[in-house]
Amino acid sequence: MAEQLTPETPEESEEQPIKQRKNGLYPGVSDELAENMKSGWADTELHGLEPIAQAAHTADRRAALSRRFPGERLVIPAGNLKTRSNDTEYSFRASTEYAYLTGDQTQDGVLVLEPRTLPDGTHSHEATVYLLPRSDRENGEFWLDGQGELWVGRRHSLGEAEQLLGIPAKDVRELAAALKEATGPVRAVRGHDAGIEAALTDKVTAERDEELREYLSEARLVKDAFEVSELRKACDATARGFEDVVKVLDKAEATSERYIEGTFFLRARVEGNDIGYGSICAAGPHATTLHWVRNDGAVRSGELLLLDAGVETNELYTADVTRTLPINGTFSPLQRKIYDAVYEAQEAGIAAVKPGAPYRAFHDAAQRVLAEKLVEWGLCGDLDVEKVLELGLQRRWTLHGTGHMLGMDVHDCAAARTETYVAGDLEPGMCLTVEPGLYFQADDLTVPEEYRGIGVRIEDDILVTEDGNENLSASLPRRSDEVEAWMARVKQG
Ligand code: GLY
Ligand code: MN
Ligand code: MN
Repeated sequence: MAEQLTPETPEESEEQPIKQRKNGLYPGVSDELAENMKSGWADTELHGLEPIAQAAHTADRRAALSRRFPGERLVIPAGNLKTRSNDTEYSFRASTEYAYLTGDQTQDGVLVLEPRTLPDGTHSHEATVYLLPRSDRENGEFWLDGQGELWVGRRHSLGEAEQLLGIPAKDVRELAAALKEATGPVRAVRGHDAGIEAALTDKVTAERDEELREYLSEARLVKDAFEVSELRKACDATARGFEDVVKVLDKAEATSERYIEGTFFLRARVEGNDIGYGSICAAGPHATTLHWVRNDGAVRSGELLLLDAGVETNELYTADVTRTLPINGTFSPLQRKIYDAVYEAQEAGIAAVKPGAPYRAFHDAAQRVLAEKLVEWGLCGDLDVEKVLELGLQRRWTLHGTGHMLGMDVHDCAAARTETYVAGDLEPGMCLTVEPGLYFQADDLTVPEEYRGIGVRIEDDILVTEDGNENLSASLPRRSDEVEAWMARVKQG
């Protein structure tokens, strides 16, 4: 790729944007060239753009936010590019809060809700989205600046952004100074934009900002129709990604878990924005490491592959699905015994997902089944199931909670208060994972040797409906015999 250094001579600048401007002049650029580059460009402004598909939904979300914080200025940044090394950056992903409220994903964007009091005394807010406008051709930033459009691609003009998002748009470069000047109560979403936070240092408190973050997490507990359709899309694309992996298991055997990671990533990038989290491509004993994302191990026939991966859609909703597959297509008797136990636990967990049920019910139901199996297999000494559950001893092998909310973040709504999430009740429109597992570490001397190094998790994305639930990832088989039949079918093409 082209390097962004100040060149010695104009000739050397061909592939290098000149970032430093000294005394208003760019080094190595003749006056004639600077003048030449100002003109001769067509007007490409777009008119009559249709609003984005979720514009009505984002308007509703902003209206609800406005009602929650009357009379207060609310600042929600998209975030900035983060350096990966030297002059390369990580790919940008807008903050969940900003994307949720605007439908926009532009780096450096900031949504501001200005409080207004209407003539009848009621409170409201006026939303403005602050964005970087099109590159100026007069001052040279278009082609001389590393973030100029010639280098990074055309941006929407502020007018175009207004039409697309349905929100008035202004130049973000004016925002920090305006915020510094502004008076009155302010709350901001922190952790995304240091420049905006610096402009607000003496105006915000961590406690009040936390209430905003909490609200924005809780607002996402129940998904609207647009969000549900995005989650469906994410699950469907993810299922196709799992099929892709099954088709190339022989290539993975010849190389490593990286082949699986790369194969799924291809699907995620072609059908969506990205993967929603680092894919866990855990073959053999790696399956017992919960967040195995190094994915550099061998893939061996006769072992299991635990694949935990999710496509994130272009609108930033992710699936979170796990299948544990026999690499050679057939479970061994012990693998099947453990797999079937996890399947049974998942069935019990999914059955407990319904409106009005306590959130914790699906976890308890799945844990009970797993504890029963562990006792039945003689792994808990003389203790009965009730005692094992009371002492939580099954957790040596079940390790993690049985699920979590899912949405724009894989662990969605993470800032919600305990009473509205973990200690709350399920409602139609909530979407959560049900993902029990059993993990026998390779060095666990408390289990028979043949168990060691086996890890099984089955994870599906479950939407709470009016009368029960819907498994959004149901197109991927789960029962052991169905998994085998599906793998055989997919491999045959
Ligand atoms: N993939 C992370 C999780 O299942 O929660
Ligand atoms: Mn999960
Ligand atoms: Mn997962």
